Amino acid sequence: MATAKTTRRHVDPSVPLSENKHLLKWVEKVARLTRPDRIHWVSGSEQENKTLLAEMVAGGTLIKLNQKLWPGCYYARSDANDVARVEDRTFICSLSRDNAGPTNNWEDPFQMRRKLKALFSGCMQGRTMYVLPYSMGPVNSGMAQIGVQLTDSPYVVVNMRIMARIGMPVFKLIDKDTKRVVPCIHSVGQPLAPGEQDVPWPCNEEKYIVHFPETREIWSYGSGYGGNALLGKKCFALRIASNIARDEGWMAEHMLILGVEDPKGDKTYVAAAFPSACGKTNFAMLIPPAGFEGWKVWTVGDDIAWIRPDANGELRAINPEAGFFGVAPGTSNKTNSNAMATLARHTIFTNVALTPDGGIWWEGMTDAPPKECLDWQGQHWTPEIARETGRKAAHPNARFTAPAKQCPTIDPAWEDPNGVPISAFIFGGRRATTMPLVFQAFNWSAGVYIGATMGSETTAAMAGATGKVRRDPMAMLPFCGYHMGDYFRHWIKMQRQLETTPRIFHVNWFRRDGDGHFLWPGFGQNMRVLKWIVDRARGRALGRETPIGWMPRYEDLEWNGLDFTKEQFDALQHFDRKQWRQEVIEHEEMFLDLHAHLPSEMIYERELLICRL
Ligand code: GTP
Ligand code: SPV
Ligand code: MN
Repeated sequence: MATAKTTRRHVDPSVPLSENKHLLKWVEKVARLTRPDRIHWVSGSEQENKTLLAEMVAGGTLIKLNQKLWPGCYYARSDANDVARVEDRTFICSLSRDNAGPTNNWEDPFQMRRKLKALFSGCMQGRTMYVLPYSMGPVNSGMAQIGVQLTDSPYVVVNMRIMARIGMPVFKLIDKDTKRVVPCIHSVGQPLAPGEQDVPWPCNEEKYIVHFPETREIWSYGSGYGGNALLGKKCFALRIASNIARDEGWMAEHMLILGVEDPKGDKTYVAAAFPSACGKTNFAMLIPPAGFEGWKVWTVGDDIAWIRPDANGELRAINPEAGFFGVAPGTSNKTNSNAMATLARHTIFTNVALTPDGGIWWEGMTDAPPKECLDWQGQHWTPEIARETGRKAAHPNARFTAPAKQCPTIDPAWEDPNGVPISAFIFGGRRATTMPLVFQAFNWSAGVYIGATMGSETTAAMAGATGKVRRDPMAMLPFCGYHMGDYFRHWIKMQRQLETTPRIFHVNWFRRDGDGHFLWPGFGQNMRVLKWIVDRARGRALGRETPIGWMPRYEDLEWNGLDFTKEQFDALQHFDRKQWRQEVIEHEEMFLDLHAHLPSEMIYERELLICRL
């Protein structure tokens, strides 16, 4: 039915697509502050997307890739100073500083609002302000949440179209006025003077990624990149959602979700928290290796899980996202052919390298690099130049934005409005030493302790030094929107609502020998560990008790198809008392920081661990 509204709308995107008075008023108010030249209500249609993509190609923000090689794919190069999340510019502005806790940057919300008003004043001049409605989770799901992002970045709009459910169905929901809307304001922070030529990747050196947990608001300024700008992702689905979840008794976690189907056809779902760029996407899309005929791994999500107890006291999880914003370097047909198939079409690539035939490349995509290409900054690059200077063709945090539904192993239940049942949680960091390949916590509170004290080497996913071990509790250090000690308490409390408690495990794919080589082949071979985890969760595998938890014996893992000796396995699982002593001291350092809010369970668990050591 072509109503007057949709007909007029056909020629004029400034015609509002919602009748919700609050929304209309708020859009007007923000427009008065930021002074965009135009307002564009995002319908989410195919035609609209095409137009936006074409405009960005004309303006130099996007390059259309060779459509024979990469159908529907586009390529963006960011500003060299806008390549990752900026944790030191990320703020949790709760009323009380104590609610943000020592692991978050905090500023007084009143002061911060004043600062933001000044920054955003006139910041969209010369640009279009897009009114982008989105749902995190399937629109029909009771577990979904909705937001509206006002943004002056068309790059954000086309990426969010892949990462979330956007447009008309969400406006319809907003018009029903049954769900709270999280208001999100985003600007790249580079207004254009009349007649001024735009740059391919506008941004501002000054960046602010700000969350107001009490009023559930997000303000983001100065960056167009990933987690800084696609506000449905880390800002909403983790930092704001963790606050909503605490208030409402559910969990918002930095976790992948996958389903393991055994040869009998029984399915077991697990959720796993690994820090940024530590293997979630790869694990979520795992292809069982030789020796695992009849086993299958199904993908539900690769980055975020919203988890809630159902009426039977069982935890169920949805993936609030609709796409994957995955790390490109290292992704290949050998390491993750599912990801390669997913990103083969309708994908946006950011900061990879451009090959002369209009294709793309990144380190690790193929064994042999291209003879030449343009690197992520558009500079001429050859393997010889790389050898001499160490310059990479793709930025280490180069990413693909690809629709989840294109994943060959996407789970048939991935959009189930009620989510999938979770039987196990897995924590895992990137650790060269100390942490064995796998062990299982003795019980829930011991498992919460293992997650809470998790350490990992820093990666290129955030600005700053890489390779430094830091504590990253539950992989949520950059994403927990309130006091970390209260977050541990919330984890402890969650179990009280449950009839069936998921088992908790810790894994480490990254342990190295004295020469720096990985002790474990990883990727598809992680299936051997996953099988033990699923078998343990179902009560059908044995293990042995150690000071840190249950471990598989050599004979408890399936080795069919892999040549891996007992000596190699022992090195990988080795429990080193001296290294653990150091480890426990580092736990204590974090606990000192969190002391005032630390649940007593964490203190007792630490004591027990020390006694066992
Ligand atoms: P975010 O999207 O940043 O949250 O990251 P992620 O956890 O999804 O990380 P991803 O799966 O993209 O992995 C990032 C890096 O880890 C890549 O360089 C991979 O090659 C590497 N990696 C993943 N799995 C393994 C593994 O089992 N072993 C080894 N050695 N490396 C791995
Ligand atoms: C991460 O850093 O954990 C990511 C990428 O998943 S970003 O969306 O940029 O945060
Ligand atoms: Mn992530």
